[in-house]
Amino acid sequence: MNTKLFRAGDPDAAARAAAILRAGGLVAIPTETVYGLGANGLDEAAVARIFEAKGRPQDNPLILHIAEPARLTDICRDIPGAAWELARRFWPGPLTMVLPCRDTVPRRTTAGLDTVAVRCPRTAVTREIIRLAGVPVAAPSANLSGKPSTTTAEHVLHDLDGKIEAVVDDGPCQVGVESTIVDMTGPVPRLLRPGGLAPELLEAVLGRLEVDPAVTAPVAADAVVRAPGMKYRHYAPQGQVLIVPGSREKAAAYIRRHFAPGDAVLCFQEELPLYDGCNPTAYGREDDAETLARGLFAALRELDRADISTIFARCPAGGGVGYAVRNRLRKAAGFRIVPEDEL
Ligand code: TXA
Ligand code: MG
Repeated sequence: MNTKLFRAGDPDAAARAAAILRAGGLVAIPTETVYGLGANGLDEAAVARIFEAKGRPQDNPLILHIAEPARLTDICRDIPGAAWELARRFWPGPLTMVLPCRDTVPRRTTAGLDTVAVRCPRTAVTREIIRLAGVPVAAPSANLSGKPSTTTAEHVLHDLDGKIEAVVDDGPCQVGVESTIVDMTGPVPRLLRPGGLAPELLEAVLGRLEVDPAVTAPVAADAVVRAPGMKYRHYAPQGQVLIVPGSREKAAAYIRRHFAPGDAVLCFQEELPLYDGCNPTAYGREDDAETLARGLFAALRELDRADISTIFARCPAGGGVGYAVRNRLRKAAGFRIVPEDEL
């Protein structure tokens, strides 16, 4: 298959993308978080092709994307007031809510669950595509399963060229990490995945927010979890990522002691001078977590090479989107972190 490239600025890009979706095809769509691999979320055959193109495990459900918050009622039932409040404050934006789903949503989309994840993304061309398609658009991140999410159209083509009908290029994503997922089906809202929306903002509206254990610790492959996606190896380059905590100086001393030819360092821009000769890549500024979020996946992709063995990585502290960056890096590392007493 010859994958077409549409530019978001082209006047007919949205209409052409929507026509492909209506016909059961796959289109990679830009969102403010990461690029999504879109299909008609109500079409079982189209949804099946998403799983096939990504090599995604069948038990990992998809997020449905809607153009307007009001469309929530088409696919969900028993929507609590708190969910409407979150929608009013944070949509369109990097927030996904898990809610009880209506029978119109195929079980293949939800991987057999009776809940569905829903998001109204911010990117204008993508909301126009969804509006013109006239259906909720199922879209996981547009990467091969297990690889870092894609934040440019080039990343998408690297993973999926020839497997999908088209990609809509809207330049690099503004946020750079995926949406924050909150499960609204229980008595207390639960954070299933930290992401582009700061958890502090959610908590301020909700009052209480539980954090799912899968956010902070590794999950066994056979575990029954609220967020099925959390149990799979994620974001991982071919080499082994090892997180080095601690102060700038201590971390640099540790890395310089253990660095071997063929290794690499993933660090903050402020730290670059400390890693002369250690093959460093900076993914953003430590004093600005938003730059780290925007740069993380591109950097992990650059370092995804067979000739790199260990990637020593520096993780931001603190909340906001830094929390999501820390979560993605820990997952990329398979939660391998140097104990403080070894620094
Ligand atoms: O920012 C994003 O959320 C991007 C863009 C494209 O919107 N999408 C994205 O999709 O990250 P994906 O499939 O890569 O991650 C969706 C996560 C998975 O971990 C999946 O298990 C979880 O959402 N999920 C989907 N439906 C769920 C449900 N009903 N209950 C719990 N978790 C669910
Ligand atoms: Mg993903």
